[in-house]
Amino acid sequence: MSQPLGGSAAVRPMVVANWKMNGLRRDSRDFVHAFAKLKRGAGGVKCDIIVCPPATLLLELRDVLQGSGVGLGGQNCHRAVKGAHTGDISAEMLADCGCAYVILGHSERRADHGETSELVREKVSAALFAGLQIILCVGESEQERDDGGALRVVSQQLESSLSHEANSASVAIAYEPVWAIGTGRTPSLAEIKDMHAHIRKTYKEIKTGGANGLRVLYGGSVKTKNAADILAIEGVDGALVGGASLLAEEFWAICAHYGS
Ligand code: PGA
Repeated sequence: MSQPLGGSAAVRPMVVANWKMNGLRRDSRDFVHAFAKLKRGAGGVKCDIIVCPPATLLLELRDVLQGSGVGLGGQNCHRAVKGAHTGDISAEMLADCGCAYVILGHSERRADHGETSELVREKVSAALFAGLQIILCVGESEQERDDGGALRVVSQQLESSLSHEANSASVAIAYEPVWAIGTGRTPSLAEIKDMHAHIRKTYKEIKTGGANGLRVLYGGSVKTKNAADILAIEGVDGALVGGASLLAEEFWAICAHYGS
């Protein structure tokens, strides 16, 4: 596979599997064995690979991923350290299960659980306090894009969600247009490039320390067939992959664009 040159200089790309509410214990073991075999056969890749399974599979995956070089992440955490929050999971619990990462602000959580950017900011603080790295999702709805408001919406999400402790070493931003998630539709390559440049610019305005080392991922219907084009876009430092990450072969084919 050819090495895409889209990412920012001196930044190690990142490819993240978001399994959402999919997977039973047997599936996860099968996935890891198949994935590890593909990875071994290829002699490695020049990107960080992270799998974010449902919470029920974290311990299972922590054990089977050991030594594979694949990182483990949660899909959400509570803003509080602990307490009376039935059904929730704290950032420290994720870390305790072997997670080094957590996805926060995903649009499905914003839609299904009414999560606001202000709440996401509190979660970012909690996750950083627990020592986790964050994959922070932002993205506009179809209506917002049609109305010409995509850039504004994403700036607002960034401004409201990034806590003051966050920096480019601890947070990666995932641009995920809501209308592209699970639909098979994606923005044009030029639209992705523009949005990634906008995210970097906005981040620099928010964080006076600058955007050096910041990773900006694209997510939303990334598949084997479009990954080469998307990962080659200037300013795309990797991908957040949903549906296509459930099959080891498909997910590997996406990661393998960052050939060794
Ligand atoms: P998708 O999901 O790849 O299935 O579109 C991406 C995501 O929601 O993270």
